Amino acid sequence: MQTTDTYDVIILGAGAAGLMCAAQAGKRRRRVLLLDKAEKIGKKILISGGGRCNFTNLNVNPAAYLSQNPHFCKSALSRYTAQDFLSLMRQYRLTWHEKTLGQLFCDQKAPAIVEMLWAECRAADVALRLDTEIERVTHDAAGFDLITTQGHYHCTSLVIATGGPSIPRMGSTDFGLRIAKQFGLKNIPFSPALVPFTLTQEMLDGLFAGLAGISTEITAECAAGAFRENLLFTHRGLSGPAMLQISSYWQKGAAVRINLLPGKPVFTWLQTLQKQRPKAELKTVLAEVLPTRLAHRLCETLFPNRPLGQYGEKALQAIAQQLQAWEITPAGTEGMRTAEVSLGGVDTRELSSKTMEARQVAGLYFIGETVDVTGWLGGYNFQWAWSSGWCAGQTV
Ligand code: FDA
Repeated sequence: MQTTDTYDVIILGAGAAGLMCAAQAGKRRRRVLLLDKAEKIGKKILISGGGRCNFTNLNVNPAAYLSQNPHFCKSALSRYTAQDFLSLMRQYRLTWHEKTLGQLFCDQKAPAIVEMLWAECRAADVALRLDTEIERVTHDAAGFDLITTQGHYHCTSLVIATGGPSIPRMGSTDFGLRIAKQFGLKNIPFSPALVPFTLTQEMLDGLFAGLAGISTEITAECAAGAFRENLLFTHRGLSGPAMLQISSYWQKGAAVRINLLPGKPVFTWLQTLQKQRPKAELKTVLAEVLPTRLAHRLCETLFPNRPLGQYGEKALQAIAQQLQAWEITPAGTEGMRTAEVSLGGVDTRELSSKTMEARQVAGLYFIGETVDVTGWLGGYNFQWAWSSGWCAGQTV
């Protein structure tokens, strides 16, 4: 007969949130088992930030998170902060640097973060089973029973930390939502976020022809989102941090408004140049403030290229408007295949914001990306994983 291993806490998913939760629960002398279907722990941490792991952000605040309930993340983010994670790193003599916009990267690279989290788990006697698929989860008054490809398990607290479905080739799944549905919890379907845009072939062959590879600082706006970062033109569409950020706010059919010269009063700047250099061509002066290929392409497609002295006031105004509020309607996004995270997850109304426990199912917890809380690009998503994992770890 198959024997059943019993634990106080079983955590499904040995990623960012699961590792943090396991270490915290273990420190409270709970008997903890971490289960993961992958062959190693922390796979997304290892590939994050180009291998350097952008592990948090100095500007973490609730406004940097998208959720149907923007208040939900406040409690966890204030209970376990970016500074708390930095204290942990100091204990392990790990160092970091700020790249831009408060984004902190680990000097010792991503594997050092995984090693640190695993050292915390080891010190707290956390057990680990890798290569383990969960076949069935059942629940009764005594707790949760799990049938897996590696055996049967029982626990009183079950934590779902299986992340979101972005980058399916890494084995990512929507397992968290399937468990939520099994227990009757509402959810917001997962959709790709922090993802490059695609353009139609007509756009790529027309206005955008020859622009691939160009990067320039812009502001991008769509719905409630507005970001000042770099735009990268690609062979398939638009990418770069500004576009990844705004993709989280974009809905199919909507236009993204781009200011190619953020912070510049373009109309008065053009008027001044018109007086000072009336013979200078528009494409020449634009190439002084924009990448040359882009400046020339705009003058071939969006507006006529002439010596500045030949434009009337209305024409200059129209050019300024195009440069500062260029509306592009993407065809779509690259989808889950390349999305850095996913929007959606377990509806936060189903969970306690303090403990992450399901209100209707005692002992069942959801943390990290499985919850409907999605951060901006720049370390915000790992901070949510650390904070939500830490909070659940105090209660499981
Ligand atoms: P995470 O995905 O880390 O872990 C889930 C775990 O569950 C995995 O180990 C998986 O194998 C396991 N699992 C899944 N299904 C299972 C099942 N059915 N049974 C058992 N186990 C299962 N964020 C950031 O803040 N800074 C950054 O620099 C980056 N960089 C980055 C780069 C790339 C390429 C990607 C794809 C993502 C990022 N991110 C990021 C986002 C970040 O990786 C993400 O938000 C966190 O990893 C989410 O942590 P979780 O613990 O919730 O899921």
